Amino acid sequence: MDRLLINGGVSLQGEIRIAGAKNSALPILAATLLTYETVQVRNLPHLFDITTMLELLGCMGVRTVVDEKLNVEVNSSSIEHLSAPYDLVKTMRASILVLGPLLARYGKAEVALPGGCAIGGRPVDLHISALQSMGANIVVEEGYIKASVEGRLKGAHIFMDLVTVTGTENVMMAASLAEGQSIIENAAREPEVVDLANCLVAMGADISGQGTDTIVINGVGELHGCSYSVMPDRIETGTYLIAAAATRGHIKVKDTRPDILDSVLRKLEQVGADIKVGENWIELDMHGRRPRSVSVRTAPYPAFPTDMQAQITALNTVAKGTGSITETVFENRFMHVHEMNRMGATIKVEGNTVIVEGVNALNGAPVMATDLRASASLVIAGLVSENQTIVDRIYHIDRGYECIEEKLQSLGAKIHRVTA
Ligand code: EPZ
Repeated sequence: MDRLLINGGVSLQGEIRIAGAKNSALPILAATLLTYETVQVRNLPHLFDITTMLELLGCMGVRTVVDEKLNVEVNSSSIEHLSAPYDLVKTMRASILVLGPLLARYGKAEVALPGGCAIGGRPVDLHISALQSMGANIVVEEGYIKASVEGRLKGAHIFMDLVTVTGTENVMMAASLAEGQSIIENAAREPEVVDLANCLVAMGADISGQGTDTIVINGVGELHGCSYSVMPDRIETGTYLIAAAATRGHIKVKDTRPDILDSVLRKLEQVGADIKVGENWIELDMHGRRPRSVSVRTAPYPAFPTDMQAQITALNTVAKGTGSITETVFENRFMHVHEMNRMGATIKVEGNTVIVEGVNALNGAPVMATDLRASASLVIAGLVSENQTIVDRIYHIDRGYECIEEKLQSLGAKIHRVTA
């Protein structure tokens, strides 16, 4: 199992380019099932999760052609199986995103029930109830979601009890080919939902309201192929900006979008960062100063993202003062806290809030990653530690961060991968 070895104490300096957004690429790849024509998806990130989604499409008999820049051409006219097997779903919960498209296009789908993961139970009850309200017959048995519908799905007025990103995406994809109009209320407003909607519109779907909490979809008979470029990854962007702020550095992040990171950029200004932005770049400069502590409460977009919670906690461990971080989206997203305390951080957990009292620097230690964003936060903790940190189980990192050690090395970090 690969590990990352980090020698801390370096202020990150330099420029990096941001990859395409994992959480936009995954639903867009699933959306290719909605048409028999070829869909070209560009700017895909080089990540394990993308490979897993391509493998899932491939095991259904869908043809995928990948070029050297990892642009992919997908044509689902050769599809043979309408199922997503457990051995793939267990490695990537986002496999649930094939449920809506398969049901809408073929009237049948069998998707392994995604188990929970380190950060929570991750139920999919809202996906299921919404599709049932569109006329789908769905049973969950033997660990599988077995869905079918006579004829086409019917448009419905759906109120999502909770804001769910992939739940909104599944319903939006299913509604694109349903008969009549669907309205999704309390819809997720995440930029990745908007990116998927824009790709569906490029395929001929009739969607409006994406980016607000009410999305209206008028079903059409067919969708056609298109060529679509995935938006930049705002979580990768924020992760590097926070790493630079924590290490008192000065970096410029290119091929990104500042307009979808307001909550994070405002918080970084509160920690004392000097932020400049252009159309597709963000520059952060700490002028060598130690960051100030900041308090954060995660919530659905446009609030501070839960996927940045572990990273901002890592910054707070070495900031001046005391900060509180409240996690309102997932029920168990503090595993990184115990590992950081082993590195000399002083973090107290009080229900769904952690209180972080900043220290000048952490002490490197062997630590273990438990989920994608927690592992990124442990890398940041390693960067602000004296002596060496070893981050184990970094397969989590490879699921969501393209070439993390190369990008950090290009910013001056002393980090390298050891293959055990
Ligand atoms: C998406 O997960 C992202 N993944 C997650 O990113 C992200 O953390 C999350 O949205 C929140 O922003 C992808 O887009 C592939 P939810 P998703 O449904 O859709 C509850 C990463 O690091 N819920 O918005 O699975 C759920 O338990 C990953 O890249 C139900 O109760 O999250 C949670 O408490 C981690 N029933 C809340 O809603 C349901 O049917 C929000 O979950 C669905 C969700």
